[in-house]
Amino acid sequence: MSLSGSSVIVTGAGAGLGRAYALELARQGAKVVVNDVSEDAAGAVVDEISSAGGEAVAAVVPVGDSAAADQLVQTAVDSFGRLDALVTNAGILRDKSLLKMTDEDFDAVIHVHLRGTFTCVRAAYKYFKENGVAGHIVCIGSPTGQRGNFGQTNYAAAKAGIVGMVRTWALEMKKAGVTVNAVIPVAATAMTKTVPYFRAAVEADERGEPMPDFFRKDLGFGPADDVAGVVAFLASSEADGITGQVLGAGGDRLQVWSHPQPVAEEYHDGGWDFSTTSDRGNAIVKENLQDVGEKFPELPDELKPKD
Ligand SMILES: NC(=O)c1ccc[n+]([C@@H]2O[C@H](COP(=O)([O-])OP(=O)(O)OC[C@H]3O[C@@H](n4cnc5c(N)ncnc54)[C@H](O)[C@@H]3O)[C@@H](O)[C@H]2O)c1
Repeated sequence: MSLSGSSVIVTGAGAGLGRAYALELARQGAKVVVNDVSEDAAGAVVDEISSAGGEAVAAVVPVGDSAAADQLVQTAVDSFGRLDALVTNAGILRDKSLLKMTDEDFDAVIHVHLRGTFTCVRAAYKYFKENGVAGHIVCIGSPTGQRGNFGQTNYAAAKAGIVGMVRTWALEMKKAGVTVNAVIPVAATAMTKTVPYFRAAVEADERGEPMPDFFRKDLGFGPADDVAGVVAFLASSEADGITGQVLGAGGDRLQVWSHPQPVAEEYHDGGWDFSTTSDRGNAIVKENLQDVGEKFPELPDELKPKD
């Protein structure tokens, strides 16, 4: 197994997707540092891995600051003698429309997702460089960061920022042979449970039943386990040569996202002054208007929330 004996940190691994990543990495032979803010949740995942014959250690610390990132790398080295991969997954939501969003709502989300990803990746990369390890980094984005979503100013900023950092890091880390990619997951977890659109799928999952085909096949939405294989792949040497990529995963679907690039380009001698832009520029922009927002196809009647 390509992850056999490797040592991997997963942040926010006490629940939801992070838990699924930690369990899958352990199934593939990795030793896992299970990070979370909840001691009980992290401990339960460590117990699950240990009782299945794997190796794991809990690291209970809120990611965000540099000290937490350093602590995670140190835990991997102290417990397993090395570090091979990092999955930055920890996250919170503070959803509100723009005028209702406070500075605290904005800062809290940026701190955990964006700063937490920055500090953890920096600490892991420092270790990789100093120890000549061609490590693997997987950062977790969101469809909201790719497309925008109503009520998620803070989260959109953080998740778009994460993908922006991944592009930059792919350039900076290339020479060291370190890969860095983003995964855009969609899955039934505490985070999506409250969204009425997903209710029929989440309820089926909670009853231990398979999700309706519409969710798995049309929407790419399933249990957290569906994303875990893709994350474990990117954290393994199987994925060597793949870097700077953004993969969507969920349900039965795997996606490769494009990076933004111009869809129209035109030159005007002397530049684009107000009047040229109002005239020719205006026409070019209107011919090439881009849509925004996540695409949610209409639910079949039987799957529509009843209230
Ligand atoms: N569920 C989805 O469909 C979906 C879609 C897109 C992106 N994501 C992203 O996937 C990641 C996991 O989401 P989820 O749905 O499993 O969420 P979740 O709320 O079920 O789990 C998040 C975990 O992170 C932990 N956590 C929160 N703040 C932390 C911190 N500062 N340090 C360490 N741990 C912390 C929580 O205690 C929890 O165990 C997040 O980054 C989220 O934005 C999820």
